[in-house]
Amino acid sequence: MAKARVYVARQLPAEAIRRIKSSCDAAVWERQGPSTRRVLLQRVKGIEGLLCTISEKVDAELLDAAAPDLRVVSNLGVGFDNIDVPELTRRGIPLGNTPGVLTETTADLAFGLIIAASRRLVEGDRRVRAGKWRFWDITGFLGEDVHDATIGIIGMGKIGTAVARRAKGFGMRVLYHDLVRRRDVEAELGAVFSSLEGLLSEADFVTIHADLNQGTLHLIDAERIRLMKRNSILVNTARGTIVDNMALFKALKARRIRGAALDVTDPEPLPRDHPLLGLDNVLVTPHIGSASVATRSKMAELAVNNLLAGLEGKRLPNCVNPEVYVRNRLA
Ligand code: 8YV
Repeated sequence: MAKARVYVARQLPAEAIRRIKSSCDAAVWERQGPSTRRVLLQRVKGIEGLLCTISEKVDAELLDAAAPDLRVVSNLGVGFDNIDVPELTRRGIPLGNTPGVLTETTADLAFGLIIAASRRLVEGDRRVRAGKWRFWDITGFLGEDVHDATIGIIGMGKIGTAVARRAKGFGMRVLYHDLVRRRDVEAELGAVFSSLEGLLSEADFVTIHADLNQGTLHLIDAERIRLMKRNSILVNTARGTIVDNMALFKALKARRIRGAALDVTDPEPLPRDHPLLGLDNVLVTPHIGSASVATRSKMAELAVNNLLAGLEGKRLPNCVNPEVYVRNRLA
C-alpha cells in the first residue's frame, strides 16, 4: 500500500521525524525558521496530512492548494488561532492540537516573568554587564514584592489554574476573571472571581491566560489599561494581540503602570525599532512559554499521534473540531 503523503512544516525533534517517516512518505521543511507563504503553498500540494505550528496560517487558500486528499491537520501547540477551524470543519478535516503537556511549563514562565519584572532582574543583569554597577546601595534597584501581593488571572483554564497554584505558594491573594465561574479553583485555591474591571483595578500583577478569539482581541485596550494600578505589572504569555500594543506602549512610557513582561507580542518578532523595545520598563522574551526540552518533545509526540491517527482514519486523540466525526460518521 502506498504510504500517505505528509508535509511537516517545521523542524521537529528527531524521534518525531523518525515516527512520521516510518509510516509516511514525508517531506520536512529543511531550514530552521518558517518557510515563506509562497513556498508553503507549493509544498502542501497533493498532501494527505499536514503537521504545522503557530507560524503557518492554515486558511481556505492553503486548503485549496493542498486539496483534494488532505484529511488531517495537526498543529503543534495548544493554541490554534493560526487556523481557520470553521473552514477545516466545513471540509470535514479534523484538527489536532497538543493541550495539557505544556501547562506547567508555561505557568513556570509566567511566574518567572512576574518575578523578573517586579524584581528588575533583566535590568540588573544589563547594568552589571555594562560595568555600570559600582556599589551596593540601600535604594538601588528597588522593586515590588511578589509575596503577599494580589495577582489577577485573566483566563482560568489549565494554565491560569497552574499559575494560581504557584501564586498561592507565594501567599498571594488570587483574583480571576473567566467566562465561567470556577467553583473548583475557588475551593482549592481560595481564588476569587472578579469582573474584568474589578480585577484590573485591584491586581498588582495582571497575567493573561485566555485564548485569542473575537472576544479577546485587544481585550486589554487603553481604557482597560487605565483601570490598572500605578505600580502594577502586566504579564502576557498567551497571544500578543490580546493586548493593544500601542495603548500599552503609551501607558508604560507615561509610567501609568509600572511595567510589562511579554512573552508574546504583536507582531512576532517585534521589529528592533518597535517603540516598546525602547522602554526600560518592558521585558520581552521570544515566545518561549512551552520551551523546555521535555515539554517540546511531548508536544511533538502528541502532534505526531494526532497526525498518524488522522491518516489511519481514526479519531484524533486531541481533536479541536470533533463535530467532523458526526458528519463523517467516523470512529
Ligand atoms: C507553542 C503556544 O510554542 O501552544 C501554544 O499555543 O503558544 C506555544 O506553546 C506554539 O504554539 C508552537 O506552535
